[in-house]
Amino acid sequence: MLFPNPIAFLLPALLSFVWLNTHQLYAATLPQDEANVLNQVAKTMGNNDWSFDAGSCNVSEQVSTVGMIAEKNITCTCQNGTCHVTHLVFKLQSLPGVLPSEIVNLPYLKVVDFAYNYLSGTIPPEWASMQLEFISVFGNRLSGSIPTYLGNITSLRYLDLETNQFSGQVPPEIGKLVNLRTLRLSSNRLAGNLPVQLADLENLLDFRINDNNFNGSIPAFIQSWKKLRRLEMQASGLTGPIPSSISALENLITLIISDINGTTQRFPDLWNMAAINRIVLKKCNIAGQIPPQIWQMSQLRIL
Ligand SMILES: *[C@@H]1O[C@H](CO)[C@@H](O)[C@H](O)[C@H]1NC(C)=O
Ligand SMILES: *[C@@H]1O[C@H](CO)[C@@H](O)[C@H](O)[C@H]1NC(C)=O
Ligand SMILES: *[C@@H]1O[C@H](CO)[C@@H](O)[C@H](O)[C@H]1NC(C)=O
Ligand SMILES: *[C@@H]1O[C@H](CO)[C@@H](O)[C@H](O)[C@H]1NC(C)=O
Ligand SMILES: *[C@@H]1O[C@H](CO)[C@@H](O)[C@H](O)[C@H]1NC(C)=O
Ligand SMILES: *[C@@H]1O[C@H](CO)[C@@H](O)[C@H](O)[C@H]1NC(C)=O
Repeated sequence: MLFPNPIAFLLPALLSFVWLNTHQLYAATLPQDEANVLNQVAKTMGNNDWSFDAGSCNVSEQVSTVGMIAEKNITCTCQNGTCHVTHLVFKLQSLPGVLPSEIVNLPYLKVVDFAYNYLSGTIPPEWASMQLEFISVFGNRLSGSIPTYLGNITSLRYLDLETNQFSGQVPPEIGKLVNLRTLRLSSNRLAGNLPVQLADLENLLDFRINDNNFNGSIPAFIQSWKKLRRLEMQASGLTGPIPSSISALENLITLIISDINGTTQRFPDLWNMAAINRIVLKKCNIAGQIPPQIWQMSQLRIL
């Protein structure tokens, strides 16, 4: 026989293919120490029913409730059969506890999303030493001052503290978060003026401080946020006038400012914002004519 039986070749190939697949499916597991950390995290957040083990990687549960999605999602990165948790999402889970300091023992964690729970207290100092990139604690019951040590997490790209009970002034240390793309502080009880150090957030794309108790006037340094696409200051407590330096924000797409008292001003110069789509300037004490340039703004949909 010139050629050997093809089965003799195919069978081992087929078997190793199957073996490889099951290897990939079942051999990559979460080490016991990280599973233990997840179990402690659940308890700290006020849930005594969840139980995590070696199979807890890439497990996701989504439940639609009235207009919202409750989500439990643990994502891992795996190498050589060992996995590490990178994303922890416990959203709309009615968690009544506090933010877990234990996540400091998940060294690969990048994303923490605990939005829409009943978590109280503040952000644990242990988080300051982590390399987190994304923190959302939207819609909880966190209170006290925004901790200065948040400024240590320079890897942060997204920080959402909205709809909590944070009070006091925004710490100048937040200006150290030079990788921030998104900073959302709306619906808290924040006071004082915005610290000038925030001018250093040169990568900022989205800044929102609606519904707070800030005082003082809208700072001229917002002009430093050259890449900014979205600016929201509705009833922030800040007063007018809108600084003329706003004209430097040439990449704005959404501009919403409302309820600023102070002196009457003319319609601000927004004419270099070629991509602007929505302009809302409500109760801003603007007088005089709407400048005719407005009709040349080709992307504008809402004024
Ligand atoms: C989880 O998903 C990541 C990214 O898709 C992948 O690299 C990893 O192998 C998966 N782990 C497990 C245990 O399925
Ligand atoms: C879980 O989170 C990861 C990382 O954000 C995401 O890629 C994945 O799509 C999520 N799973 C589900 C089912 O939404
Ligand atoms: C994975 O295995 C490869 C080859 O055996 C090795 O070079 C690498 O260092 C291992 N990586 C980890 C994270 O253990
Ligand atoms: C934040 O960084 C400063 C300066 O490196 C350090 O002194 C401080 O202990 C850090 N804070 C926390 C809570 O880790
Ligand atoms: C502005 O806020 C600061 C800090 O909370 C406070 O000390 C100051 O009295 C306030 N000023 C006014 C005019 O309300
Ligand atoms: C603006 O004036 C109104 C009426 O005097 C007052 O109720 C409101 O608190 C003032 N807002 C600010 C931001 O000062």
